[in-house]
Amino acid sequence: AMEYLKQFKILFGEGALPKEVDGYLFPPGFEPDSAKVAYDQIEINEDDILIATYPKTGTTWVVGIVHQILYGDNPTDLEKYSTLQFFFHYLEFGAVCKYDVWKKLSFPRQVFATHLPEPLVNMKKFKANGAKLIYVIRNPKDQAVSWRHFVKNFAYTKSEFWKPFFPEDEKEFYDVYLAGNQHAFAKKRKGYLECIKEWYKHKNDENVLFLVYEEMKKNPHIEIKKIADFIGKSLTDEQLNNVVEKTSFASMKKESEKTAPDNNEGAQFFRKGQIGDWKNHLTVAQSELIDRKVKEILGDTDIEFIYE
Ligand code: A3P
Repeated sequence: AMEYLKQFKILFGEGALPKEVDGYLFPPGFEPDSAKVAYDQIEINEDDILIATYPKTGTTWVVGIVHQILYGDNPTDLEKYSTLQFFFHYLEFGAVCKYDVWKKLSFPRQVFATHLPEPLVNMKKFKANGAKLIYVIRNPKDQAVSWRHFVKNFAYTKSEFWKPFFPEDEKEFYDVYLAGNQHAFAKKRKGYLECIKEWYKHKNDENVLFLVYEEMKKNPHIEIKKIADFIGKSLTDEQLNNVVEKTSFASMKKESEKTAPDNNEGAQFFRKGQIGDWKNHLTVAQSELIDRKVKEILGDTDIEFIYE
């Protein structure tokens, strides 16, 4: 864990530079090339689970839920596997994901996460080996607000190189972000919505579960049971209640403060955890721009975002 935190500071500190792979622009720290390494090196088994998301849509939450479902009954395993997997599991965290190390640790089930765009993930390999994919979406207004608060804490965004991409001023920040002019896991002038669209073509595939952040917020029992069924774990009512309790925003936040009190080099994964905070941050024009983009980009899908 300490090694990871050290790497984290280097990767996200001042002077960190952007990366571009196949036209996709990534913030510093993310090593999309390692996804290519992952293509070749990762051994995938049928019990493995890939949790794919665009940043700030509930990744940490779903990873937490999956770990609770798998190991919640056994605190020692929960602690061991979820800590290890939390620190290693992002496909694109090249500098910290050491696949040779990973391979030597034997996990009962591997839980991977990724923010990579769909074309950069070897879905064929995951599918051919029978692994399961969970994809989470969240309404794009709250996603944008969550993203701003998240990156605001990173030292690199204050450097001369990055300042124009990450304006200090709130309104300007969203203008740049919504125009697709930030380095945010998408192609230039594209963003979250295009990335969802690329993943959404797997919606009806076998071994794929699409989740909606707001539905999880509104009906945690129903959605968590869905996840448990999907990964092949049947829970008693008591176990289900326990997972719901342990993965509430308040519990996860408290737990994270206990286990990583100094993990505040920018990475704050628990902020508000609510639906509708965008109303406190976006201008009417920005909110309407998002509505137009949703129609334009996702109008031919059945995605309907929940905004409150
Ligand atoms: P906010 O910034 O709106 O609070 P990711 O893990 O993909 O980076 O997403 C982070 C977002 O999910 C943050 O949103 C965070 O607070 C929220 N989140 C994390 N854990 C949560 C939980 N248990 N319940 C609800 N929201 C949660």
